[in-house]
Amino acid sequence: MTAPLNAPDIMSALSQRFLHKFSHTPRIFRAPGRVNLIGEHTDYNDGFVLPAAIDLYTWAAVAPRDDHNLNIFSENLDQQAQLDLRAIDLRPKNHWSDYVAGVALMLQRLGIAITGADLAILSTIPSGVGLSSSAALEVSIASALLAVSNRSLGLLEIAKLCQRAEVEFVGARVGIMDQFASCFGSAGHALLLDCRSLAHTLFPSPPGIAMVVCNTMVKHGHSGGEYNQRRAQCEQGVQILESLLPEINALRDVSLAQLVSQRAVVPELVFRRCRHVVTENQRVLRFVKALDQNNLPTLGTCMAESHLSLKNDFEVSCPELDLMVQLATECEGVVGARMTGGGFGGCTINLVESNSIPAFTNRVSKNYKQITQIDPEIYVLQAASGAVEVSWNS
Ligand code: GLA
Repeated sequence: MTAPLNAPDIMSALSQRFLHKFSHTPRIFRAPGRVNLIGEHTDYNDGFVLPAAIDLYTWAAVAPRDDHNLNIFSENLDQQAQLDLRAIDLRPKNHWSDYVAGVALMLQRLGIAITGADLAILSTIPSGVGLSSSAALEVSIASALLAVSNRSLGLLEIAKLCQRAEVEFVGARVGIMDQFASCFGSAGHALLLDCRSLAHTLFPSPPGIAMVVCNTMVKHGHSGGEYNQRRAQCEQGVQILESLLPEINALRDVSLAQLVSQRAVVPELVFRRCRHVVTENQRVLRFVKALDQNNLPTLGTCMAESHLSLKNDFEVSCPELDLMVQLATECEGVVGARMTGGGFGGCTINLVESNSIPAFTNRVSKNYKQITQIDPEIYVLQAASGAVEVSWNS
């Protein structure tokens, strides 16, 4: 289906569907996706990230049931699934309902008795392209289930339990960035998150500069497996380094000079993985300093270096992402461009001067299509607030 894009239309479509499917009126929650400006694959290394929640959302309509079932209807897929809360199958089924089951299970493990519920979900976040459709689904479901069960949890607890749903149930060993951004997003701001202390600082979007996301429309297989493998390689690096540098606990603690001094004892591939993380952390800090000073050229340099490091050292880019970045940098008014998210396809993030957006969009679409025969999608996004219950008056 083509989702209507404005909030009242979405709420009305979702409520009507809910009424039709389940014969009662729901409460509605929504959680945003995110785009990461810089700091890729640093979150699970205790490092720094700079995501912004975006104005694309997953909406969850919910009403309680008086049995122990969760009936979940996906508007996007036109499919329904059912889970019995007394016996959630502990194995994921490789199905979209795994995210719901994982969240329900993690709530139960926190000792929260969840009531049965009817749920209908609608998302305007393209799925599997690095804009955190999974985290938005998890956070919207957690908010909805907590509310119908008359329970509440702090946002940080919600973010952490949603991350655990993905790591411990779905099996993707993700960091905390996506769920954190979906919970703590702030309109008009990016969030600098220290993934060790989980403290965050808001940075206003630079004036006159837009976040433009280009979707390559490709997804290379086995990205889940490759993601977990990258994480394991980082862990291998820490294991070797901590036997020589006892003061370190994570790649976050390693300086480039320390890493280089141990080059002889770290396998070449692991060395490059670690070098990406160590230098990416430094780039995040350089980037936020440049944001404070409105130093646009430095923002661009950090993004270009980040992309190259993800391509060459971390090896999570792909030809389509490289091409999309290349085409962007040839356009007028582009401050910076890089791949965003886990990689292996998906999207690039581009900071573009607002008055250059139409020319940028035309040129990048035309050239990308000409070279790849693929029509890209291009989204001009606003930094948005985190998960909320939405009412007809809001
Ligand atoms: C995915 C994960 C995040 C993060 C990014 C890469 O989005 O969910 O935790 O690791 O990849 O930066």
